[in-house]
Amino acid sequence: MYTLRRYNAPGDTASIHKLDHSIFKCGSSKQELEKMLGWVIDEGFSPVGYLLYTRVDDKNLFLETIGVDPTWRGQGIGTELMNKIISKADDQEQNIHLYINKQHQGLVKFYELFGFTIKNKTCSKAYTSIAMYRPRVLK
Ligand SMILES: CC(C)(COP(=O)(O)OP(=O)(O)OC[C@H]1O[C@@H](n2cnc3c(N)ncnc32)[C@H](O)[C@@H]1OP(=O)(O)O)[C@@H](O)C(=O)NCCC(=O)NCCS
Repeated sequence: MYTLRRYNAPGDTASIHKLDHSIFKCGSSKQELEKMLGWVIDEGFSPVGYLLYTRVDDKNLFLETIGVDPTWRGQGIGTELMNKIISKADDQEQNIHLYINKQHQGLVKFYELFGFTIKNKTCSKAYTSIAMYRPRVLK
């Protein structure tokens, strides 16, 4: 049984840094993680999933990262985390932006499930990223 709670930097930084780096070859630095907001899913006292964002301005959030421990995937944890940022954005009439890098292109389908659409593709020899966003819902 898992529980969802708010991400609290700096107390959570070390454990989320460890999980983030076990999921991504090149994860966020501790300094970056300290500036982020979001939610964590714990199993007991150990985090098994997280979603972190930064606030660009009143109307725009940037989804920095979402990760679920491989042994916990496919059980709705990613959905629960996405629903948190979506309900926050909808409450405050905010757009959500994100980038996917070319190694994770399959994720376009994951984000489309939550109302994100492709904004543009940026390409260079060294790097390709896909920008997606979920437009704000006006009340
Ligand atoms: C993407 C991720 C967060 C999804 O977490 P999860 O807990 O497995 O997601 P859920 O169980 O809530 O799945 C929800 C839906 O998304 C789909 N989905 C999950 N991972 C997916 C992926 N990598 N690509 C495409 N679709 C995916 C599932 O099939 C499911 O669809 P369904 O409801 O039609 O069956 C998880 O796979 C992960 O941590 N991946 C590695 C990290 C990563 O790539 N993060 C994003 C880059 S910032």
